[in-house]
Amino acid sequence: MTDDQAASGASTEATERPSVVLGVSGGIAAYKACELLRRLTESGHDVTVVPTEAALHFVGAATWAALSGKPVATDVWTDAHEVPHVRIGRSADLVVVAPATADLLARAAHGRADDLLTNILLTARCPVVFAPAMHTEMWEHAATRANVATLRERGALVIEPAVGRLTGADTGKGRLPEPDEIFEICRDVLARSGGLDLAGRSVVVSAGGTREPIDPVRFLGNRSSGLQGVALARTAAARGADVTLVAANVSLPDPAGVKVVRVETTEQLRDAVVSAAVSADAVVMAAAPADFRPVATSESKIKKSGDSALTLELTQTPDILAEISADRARPGQVVVGFAAETGDDSGSVLDLATAKLARKGCDLLVVNDVAGGAVFGQPDNRAVILSTDAAPHDVPLGSKTALAHVIWDEVARRLQD
Ligand code: CTP
Repeated sequence: MTDDQAASGASTEATERPSVVLGVSGGIAAYKACELLRRLTESGHDVTVVPTEAALHFVGAATWAALSGKPVATDVWTDAHEVPHVRIGRSADLVVVAPATADLLARAAHGRADDLLTNILLTARCPVVFAPAMHTEMWEHAATRANVATLRERGALVIEPAVGRLTGADTGKGRLPEPDEIFEICRDVLARSGGLDLAGRSVVVSAGGTREPIDPVRFLGNRSSGLQGVALARTAAARGADVTLVAANVSLPDPAGVKVVRVETTEQLRDAVVSAAVSADAVVMAAAPADFRPVATSESKIKKSGDSALTLELTQTPDILAEISADRARPGQVVVGFAAETGDDSGSVLDLATAKLARKGCDLLVVNDVAGGAVFGQPDNRAVILSTDAAPHDVPLGSKTALAHVIWDEVARRLQD
């Protein structure tokens, strides 16, 4: 079954549907797992919900049974003649535990088998995704850190929790990422056979378009939506990377498991990218920084004066890609640029892009032909990837997610070399 069929629910036979085990452990975020379950079932996945006893304090068995259309058990004794922990674990294409509490992570890391969910975690041989949710202190505790490290070493994808409002009045890291974003990670993991090839790698992705203020209400900006950069961040997280997304005026939801730094201007984008790049194995500049900014920003709104024209004096912004490429923070760091080009009298799109690859000094340049505004805000993209060490790689029209995976394939290959 293809990813698109799964997405549209176009599967014909129940047996062809990807089989997903949704484990739910006992945290207040269990209610959000109802939305994840709905997204999975509506997009054609066959979902078996396996809550822990504690999870049923938050959302009852009737809700899980009604939403999944299947009976729900928490122990290995219900329908024991079917040996459910082996049957469910072996037939799963994916196990996702959302929310995963500190206790569930501890039991999974230590190989405990004291309820149906932990038994399934031992019998499943498919990809396993944990979406932890807990208070910041619990997430940061040495015991939890060690348990997460153990699970990652064994090949599980443990998504970094989001930062935000927690139960009660406190705020911090430990929030369950939005169900839609966990769903995207699940789809990505199911669609790919490559595994977590970016595990242990740290990557920085920039996205969106910068805004250079003219006065308190006006700015110079551009049409970049941030969709491609967000797709790059999301897919890197799904491949196991530790991801920092530097987002310039992006109004999309934060991808699950990604550290998001929000910026507005090219100067701020530069500072955030340069600081995150210090510990990065790869930097991908998918953002569209403004090339010019006003020399001065007016502190009050600029008023019209009669019919006279307004002249703005502009100065060039720093070229972040060229700076990062010239001054690699780590040996072997892979730097990727994007080129939104339209051909002109001086050359074709590819001529201009080849010159840009040399000028910027990056390893890979992802070239989009943007004549007529193609690409901006669109879900699909077509590109040519130019590199310093291989022939141009044509990527046919496809989703921005598909292009993101091709780019990470290229990066992963260079990181291994
Ligand atoms: N870029 C950058 N800093 C800038 C401008 C662009 O890091 N001040 C990066 C973009 O993120 C992208 C690449 O450079 O990865 C190419 O962007 P593009 O706008 O095509 O190139 P420019 O340098 O602006 O070249 P020109 O407009 O002259 O074609």
